[in-house]
Amino acid sequence: MRRFSDKVIEHFSNPQNVGIIERPEGIATITNPVCGDVTEIYLRIKEGIIEDAKFKSFGCAVTIASASVFTENIKGKDISKLVSGRDEETVRQLVGLVENELGELPPQKLHCPPATIQAFLEAILQYNEGKGETQLASRIKKLIPLVSKYYERGEKAEDDIIT
Ligand code: FES
Repeated sequence: MRRFSDKVIEHFSNPQNVGIIERPEGIATITNPVCGDVTEIYLRIKEGIIEDAKFKSFGCAVTIASASVFTENIKGKDISKLVSGRDEETVRQLVGLVENELGELPPQKLHCPPATIQAFLEAILQYNEGKGETQLASRIKKLIPLVSKYYERGEKAEDDIIT
């Protein structure tokens, strides 16, 4: 099996932003459809800016490293800018916030990072629905199903190895 990058090992050994935020503006819990591991994201959001992000993970090293780098990367960012591109491109860029930093992952682990992205999108959907931001909420609703192809990418890689 391919070795994990130094970044994966660094973030798994010393994960950033582990924990919860009391009374978060956005929260979501995602069960990874491929392996059943659970990721929970908490967001502190003020006027559309992510002031703080934390996570809890009941998952593997790559999932923990993914949530660690992602929560680091989104702090201080404007939600509307994070989702302002074309649909496919936006999801690709969000996944890139994890994978560009962690480096190449073993094929068996490609299904792990998308759970963090899905949790993030579900959390900001909750925030925007709560604020009555219907336009942004409906845009985010369109993005969430697009994450599924990143899970499938991992499944395909596993199939390729088994066969
Ligand atoms: Fe389940 Fe990585 S998230 S194996």
